Amino acid sequence: MKITVIGSGYVGLVSGACFADVGNNVLCLDVDERKINMLNNGEIPIHEPGLEGMVVRNAEAGRLKFSTSYDVAVEHAEVIFLAVGTPPDEDGSADLQYILAAARSIGQRITKPVVVVDKSTVPVGTADKVRAAIGEEVAKRGVNVSFSVVSNPEFLKEGAALDDFMKPDRIVVGGDDAGALKLMRQLYAPFSRNHEKFVAMDVRSAELTKYAANAMLATRISFMNELANLAELLGADIESVRLGIGMDPRIGSQFLYPGMGYGGSCFPKDVKALVKTAADNDQTLHILTATELVNENQKNVLFNKLVRFYGGVENLRGKTIGLWGLSFKPNTDDMREAPSLVLIRNLFAAGASVRAYDPVASKEALRVLTLEHGAEKLQASLEIVGKAGDAVQGADVLVLVTEWKEFRTPDFNDLAQVLRDKAVFDGRNIYDPEVVATAGLRYEGIGRIGKAGA
Ligand code: UDX
Repeated sequence: MKITVIGSGYVGLVSGACFADVGNNVLCLDVDERKINMLNNGEIPIHEPGLEGMVVRNAEAGRLKFSTSYDVAVEHAEVIFLAVGTPPDEDGSADLQYILAAARSIGQRITKPVVVVDKSTVPVGTADKVRAAIGEEVAKRGVNVSFSVVSNPEFLKEGAALDDFMKPDRIVVGGDDAGALKLMRQLYAPFSRNHEKFVAMDVRSAELTKYAANAMLATRISFMNELANLAELLGADIESVRLGIGMDPRIGSQFLYPGMGYGGSCFPKDVKALVKTAADNDQTLHILTATELVNENQKNVLFNKLVRFYGGVENLRGKTIGLWGLSFKPNTDDMREAPSLVLIRNLFAAGASVRAYDPVASKEALRVLTLEHGAEKLQASLEIVGKAGDAVQGADVLVLVTEWKEFRTPDFNDLAQVLRDKAVFDGRNIYDPEVVATAGLRYEGIGRIGKAGA
């Protein structure tokens, strides 16, 4: 099939590459010329395991092309995916200007029937707006050309996006045009071969499904974070509780991990957007409002532990905190809404400095932190180093923020030698408190019984 993907960001690029990989003829469009030049040179603007190889392989085979020209992109396609950004507005609602601009650009050019697919995460009712925008432009030209708009939300996890696309749990498509749904079913047949994964529904239900899934997952995380804080007060271990409830198949074991709060490009934005959508319809989503509040508080949880450990915020002044992990989760360089940003902000405000290491997010972290704090402040208070071991050299304590694989089994005896104040703060509960304490280090996790160094 001939496919155009508008927006060569994270979702667009992954979708385009995967469709090309199963034999489709794909053209990815972006208005950012620099990005398209990079892609044409085989450079990938984002970090996603496996993506570079897949893009290069399909580009070389001639199945994947990149362009900045709407004329070329619209002419090319039987199916056009809209995968442009929908950043949050100031009030939390999704900003639709890019998606509607793309829709108008399509309407100004189509000459043959086409299916337009909303892939971006968009509020319920957006497909109708996209349809209207294309229709208006078509009417202005006085031509007679048919088109359909369907909704096909993505459920990709950063760091595992190729796998999620190639082996999806479900493929949700909303539309009211039988022909368009049939075409979508054909397009997704290679990803749904052994088990039927395709779920067809009306457009609004498909749009709401995306928000419902992310809101449910975010709520599970906030629930566990709140329970973890209670477990600490009660002298219980949330890790045992997690195992104990996760074995109930009605609950399931995934997304029950307490931590420093969820970050990333989806959960925070989608929870806010759904709360706003409800408010626009005179409804208060009480549970989701609490989910968001709990998450904001949770991002401070390790800082509060540091303050307690040092017996007051004033005692953090002049301390050097070793940080492992900066990205919002492993296997990505994405810093959006990363809990590390809140921790660093708190530490700077307390007069502490930071020595940080991240396997891939250093450059992106530096960019984001410079925007927030300015180069001068960073010069004075932050050092981003190239090895995990260098982040603890000269540090007073270690704080584990992101659970990258290479942090899983450090030599705690070595850490006990270098960390001046002999303590490890484990923001993802990846260490065994006994093992850490045996090496002579104080252990603090999330929702666990703290252990003094033996
Ligand atoms: C999420 C959804 O999983 C995906 O389906 C959707 O398409 C986009 O949003 P992503 O943001 O890439 O994907 O990351 P995910 O792995 O879901 O993690 C989100 C955040 O939740 C991270 O900050 C992670 O650390 C946190 N998290 C996740 C927890 O704190 N505990 C958990 O048990 C799981």
